[in-house]
Amino acid sequence: MLTNNVSRALCSVAVLALAVQSTPGDLTGNWVARSPRGDGTSRDTYLNLKQEGSRITGSIRVTQFYYKISESTGGPEGFTITGSMMDGHNERRVTYEGKLAGDELHIGTRPRPDAAITEMVAHRAPAGEGALPARIPPPALHQVPDNGLARTPPMGWNSWNKFAGRVDDAAVRGMADAMASNGMKDAGYQYINIDDTWEAGRDGSGNITTNKKFPDMKALADYVHSKGLKIGIYSSPGPNTCAGYEGSYGHEGQDARSYAAWGIDYLKYDWCGARNLYTDEEMQAVYQVMGDALRKAGRPIVYSLCQYGRAEVWKWGAEVGGNAWRTTGDIRDSWDSMTRIGFSQDPLAPWARPGHWNDPDMLEIGNGGMNDAEYKTHMSLWSILAAPLLAGNDLRNMPPNILAILTNREVIAINQDRDGKQGKRLSKSGDQEVWVRPLSGGAQAVGLFNRGAEPAAVTVKWADLGMKSSPARVRDVWSHSDVTLGGQEYSATVPAHGVVMLRVAH
Ligand code: GLA
Repeated sequence: MLTNNVSRALCSVAVLALAVQSTPGDLTGNWVARSPRGDGTSRDTYLNLKQEGSRITGSIRVTQFYYKISESTGGPEGFTITGSMMDGHNERRVTYEGKLAGDELHIGTRPRPDAAITEMVAHRAPAGEGALPARIPPPALHQVPDNGLARTPPMGWNSWNKFAGRVDDAAVRGMADAMASNGMKDAGYQYINIDDTWEAGRDGSGNITTNKKFPDMKALADYVHSKGLKIGIYSSPGPNTCAGYEGSYGHEGQDARSYAAWGIDYLKYDWCGARNLYTDEEMQAVYQVMGDALRKAGRPIVYSLCQYGRAEVWKWGAEVGGNAWRTTGDIRDSWDSMTRIGFSQDPLAPWARPGHWNDPDMLEIGNGGMNDAEYKTHMSLWSILAAPLLAGNDLRNMPPNILAILTNREVIAINQDRDGKQGKRLSKSGDQEVWVRPLSGGAQAVGLFNRGAEPAAVTVKWADLGMKSSPARVRDVWSHSDVTLGGQEYSATVPAHGVVMLRVAH
């Protein structure tokens, strides 16, 4: 009897639910707004909504981010929903406004609180499409053997800083041509690295495919190799990359084999969509999965970790097979951004060593946001820091002054010193700083930096370099001349935002 009543009640709930479902003004369902990117892929926003009276629940997915709806007001004729998610130890939120218009859901959001509203039209999508995949438990930790690569900091070029989503096959070939012929290759630059936005979806066997901008990755790799250079690629341990393209989640081994088959020599692996599935504490295990996959792929591939310096990556980056790890958020082409990153690297010095480098992000030299003195500071600091030197500008049309900064061999020799010791701050007085890097054979690189907006004198005392007397030879590596010695110290007038860099030999 009771059972009958219950089933009758359930039946009427079901009928009611059906009636609600078919009501024209119902928001319930999975909605997608697609913005085509021009490369055969689209930037997708999913709203998976459940409307119960005046309450809307469900989820919002915007490219790499998956939010749970935590607040809502209104209904089909006009609503506001807010989604929230945890990103490491921080909460991220997003708000959409919208209304139902026939078969369409008109939605709008502000990319930043002060930005204009971006409007989109969403249509009904099949249930489950765009949903966050099930979580794959991270593996137990073990030590991934050293791959023997990157005994000195990697040198090359990366597409992101200048091209972002506009990188394509022709641009990559053009960079290889330029690097091979403009003196960069001779100066030690080697890798041509494609960052995010080369990906399409997966084929029927789950193999990653390339989008229209990269018609044949194997042919492109062959071309770059034919120039005596190496080629790099980019992916994420998450389901999506930072730009919302396909990531390697659940396909790590398969992707590593694809890279090897194409002839890829370098992988930048960017946390991005993994933030929806894993905590920062699980990062090491998650990065280990690709470290193992690359080891098994049968081709030497430099493994570059990009997770913005979270979870003290310098302490475990080498254990997952990493050759370099980003230590900070993204650099921008500005004096503030570059110096905030570069001058904060002092505490990380103990973790850099041959094969395993702190990476304060790619170079902005030549992108136009800084002057030559500032770009020389960028190049000098990155060399004292034993940082990867990945040019981020358009190599095809570089003015001579920029090429000269990027190819200064005396500075590069400091960056590439075989002992692989990262430099440290020796002293700081107001805006003036002295940094020192120990070099092989007992030499030292000394950077006299002036972060101030006016020229200033900066001094280094030989005694502070551990020397009892004047050094045997001091070379100014930007003016390419020997410094006249005498006395207990060396003092230089350093231009605003500039540097004088010395190689001091005993
Ligand atoms: C992140 C990385 C950048 C770049 C972009 C690509 O922001 O830190 O260096 O790779 O993703 O989407």
